[in-house]
Amino acid sequence: MMKPLIPPSYYQDTEIFQREQVLIFQNLWNFAGFTIDLQSHNDYICAEIGGKSIIVQNFHGELRAFLNVCSHRFSQIHQLPQGNGALKCPYHSWTFNCDGIPIGIPLVERFDTITDAKRESLRLEKWLVETCGKLVFVKRNDDGIILKEFLGSIYEKLAEFSEAFGQKINEWQVKVNANWKITTENTLEGYHVFPVHKNTFGKYGIPVDIKYICNELHTGYSDKGNPEYFEKFKKKIDRPANFLKKIFLKKAESIFGKRPLKLGSYYHQLVFPNLTISTNDGVGFSVQVHQPINSEETKLVHHLFACKLELKSKIEQGIFDRVAQQFTKMYVAVYEEDKAICETVQRGISSQNKEGGIFSLEEQRIYEFHKAYAIIMNFNPT
Ligand code: FES
Ligand SMILES: [Fe+2]
Repeated sequence: MMKPLIPPSYYQDTEIFQREQVLIFQNLWNFAGFTIDLQSHNDYICAEIGGKSIIVQNFHGELRAFLNVCSHRFSQIHQLPQGNGALKCPYHSWTFNCDGIPIGIPLVERFDTITDAKRESLRLEKWLVETCGKLVFVKRNDDGIILKEFLGSIYEKLAEFSEAFGQKINEWQVKVNANWKITTENTLEGYHVFPVHKNTFGKYGIPVDIKYICNELHTGYSDKGNPEYFEKFKKKIDRPANFLKKIFLKKAESIFGKRPLKLGSYYHQLVFPNLTISTNDGVGFSVQVHQPINSEETKLVHHLFACKLELKSKIEQGIFDRVAQQFTKMYVAVYEEDKAICETVQRGISSQNKEGGIFSLEEQRIYEFHKAYAIIMNFNPT
């Protein structure tokens, strides 16, 4: 029988939260952003990883990552989430090179002699950085595990998915009053779809051909939708009163038919620990980062991408924009519903100190998540 392995206290305890920040977020490869934002020399992004601000910056085509803390008197260096500019501290204008060594120190003669060795000792804390497709990952310690090894069999899939990302159609952040594991686990099961999303996801009916890919750290899910829903929809659109909708649909199908990725299914992927990516047959992509704030609060960062397409006319652009709008509307509604239920779960779990609970087959990805979590956090589940 599958049952929760992570005790309720782990969703509230501040000491556990601190251990997670190190063992799960600083010591594993974690998602930091997109290569799309790092195309030119001096483009940078700042990501919050394991309670630290991390810079990833392009130096003449090469990506480097550093802790966003100046080695003079510890100001943050970059202050925006992304931008373009030299690695220069705003406090006393120290500038750093691509190795994180301070090469420009104003009024350097007023310091005791700054030798090369001294500059070397004032190097910024370097983090590891690697990419998979358009996704950028960072990691604090070098234990020899490269990103490809950490991602294992999903490496190719993630590269393929992210290479199919086209225009970013929306990006927004929401604070959820729930532990990051609650918001992440919530995306790993479809059991809640009918009670929680009955007017959004739920209206598409029970999907067929459900597959759980559960033999590793990063679990996946796919389904082929509900054929009866498609049938009904087709009949509805064939009614004379829906003629204009039918024309729109035909045009949209022909535009989106040129998309690069066709899976023939809905697909959802967890990249352990807190990155989730889903796609409806490669038409659009939702990328969510469940960024922990503290043991009972999470910042959810949502990115919506359309598939990569070459739009040839204003009419095509208009159709694309309408589909993108509908896609955004659906996801915003779904995520609002998820936020509300996750906060309800947190309130429940916070008044529970006994272990227990049970998982259905539909919740097996959460069971896998708990197993991986237990190994990484070094505890023996009972
Ligand atoms: S704190 Fe950065 S230059 Fe002084
Ligand atoms: Fe949901």
